[in-house]
Amino acid sequence: MTHGSTLEFRVEPGGRLEGRCRVPGDKSISHRAIMLGALAEGTTEVSGFLEGEDCLATLKAFRAMGVRIDGPEAGRVTIHGVGLQGLKAPGAPLDLGNSGTSMRLMAGLLAGQPFDTVLTGDASLSRRPMGRVTEPLSRMGARIDTGPEGRPPLTIRGGQALEGIDYEMPMASAQVKSSVLLAGLHARGRTCVTEPAPTRDHTERMLTGFGYDVACHHGRVCLQGGGRLRAAAIDVPADISSAAFFLVGASIAPGSELTLAHVGVNPTRTGIIDILQLMGADIRLENPREVGGEPVADLVVRAAPLKGIRIPEALVPLAIDEFPALFVAAACAEGETVLTGAEELRVKESDRIQVMADGLAACGIQARPTPDGIVIQGGRLQGGVVHSHGDHRIAMSFAMAALRAQGSIRIQDCANVNTSFPGFAALAGGAGLNIHVKEEGV
Ligand code: S3P
Repeated sequence: MTHGSTLEFRVEPGGRLEGRCRVPGDKSISHRAIMLGALAEGTTEVSGFLEGEDCLATLKAFRAMGVRIDGPEAGRVTIHGVGLQGLKAPGAPLDLGNSGTSMRLMAGLLAGQPFDTVLTGDASLSRRPMGRVTEPLSRMGARIDTGPEGRPPLTIRGGQALEGIDYEMPMASAQVKSSVLLAGLHARGRTCVTEPAPTRDHTERMLTGFGYDVACHHGRVCLQGGGRLRAAAIDVPADISSAAFFLVGASIAPGSELTLAHVGVNPTRTGIIDILQLMGADIRLENPREVGGEPVADLVVRAAPLKGIRIPEALVPLAIDEFPALFVAAACAEGETVLTGAEELRVKESDRIQVMADGLAACGIQARPTPDGIVIQGGRLQGGVVHSHGDHRIAMSFAMAALRAQGSIRIQDCANVNTSFPGFAALAGGAGLNIHVKEEGV
């Protein structure tokens, strides 16, 4: 983030999205590439790495623990792995910025190290719940102190002997699953995690790609501690969570036809496509292929009339980051859209239910928040001023809303778009969005 300044997006109404573009690399996979590459034996070459602030925070943290990492340069990163026992004590607390994924996954990775670490973050990350990882990690023998109510900072005490556990997750969270599995690498015996619903499985896939034995059966993932990771090449696909803004934008803007190239379509991530298609969207997957253990395709999206739906709860974890964009689709749909079973949205980078409801209301749309979801009446989007609360996905969602608005939409506090989507305004502008970025000193 640009310190001492704030960014505003001003998006003029109308237009359509056209052509072909490639959104930046997948955030979840980029984080894991750094973490597993650092712990592997040998040199890991990564291409398509997301040079967003969240993944750069992970990269810097591993450098601070003695890992040589070259790049990133045009998405290329070379990680000189130090092996599972090779990390060094960092000289200072590790600042993970806005990134919940870095903090939760690293808590697991660092719980079994011989040295102490302190993990800190920005104001948003400092409000997010960490008890969901410190609780199972403590059961494994970790010693982690938190701030009040289980919030950051985390102080992880080194030198603990971890034991494998059999953990039933109370919520569908890939971050919790991954944190426990990564701690399991340093634990004695077997570590198993059972999830209440399928969540993104990039950790399991990448561990397997690095030669680690991981058993997955019916929502239960197990691994044995004390193995080794062997370096592997990683080609990071474009992030479906970033493609989501364009899928929604092209669906709602009449006359749009857009191809999104090389998008990761791992079935634990494609809820956005399923939900939009249930609403009537015209999205086709072309040229499906597999790249480094992850399914990839080109997505072709054309404008289509959308209708409101009741979103199936089973799809919620598979589209968990895409709801801000989906709410904009719902605002442009005919009829009512009802979301339930999505209380997790309240503890993301912002309370995404409340912040989206407020933003939609500012643009003249009726949106009623509920404890675990929202009810949105499709209608005519007006222009308005929206506060993103520093949440990247809120900012980009309202930028796309302007395609169907009657007046311009001004979105405040947009600097954090750089956490996941550097170059968003330029790419969206090139595809047809009438977006201007204003930097203001504070
Ligand atoms: C992520 C998992 C999801 C998601 C986050 C990235 C990951 O969080 O919201 O942006 O990379 O594992 P939860 O697992 O907490 O739902």
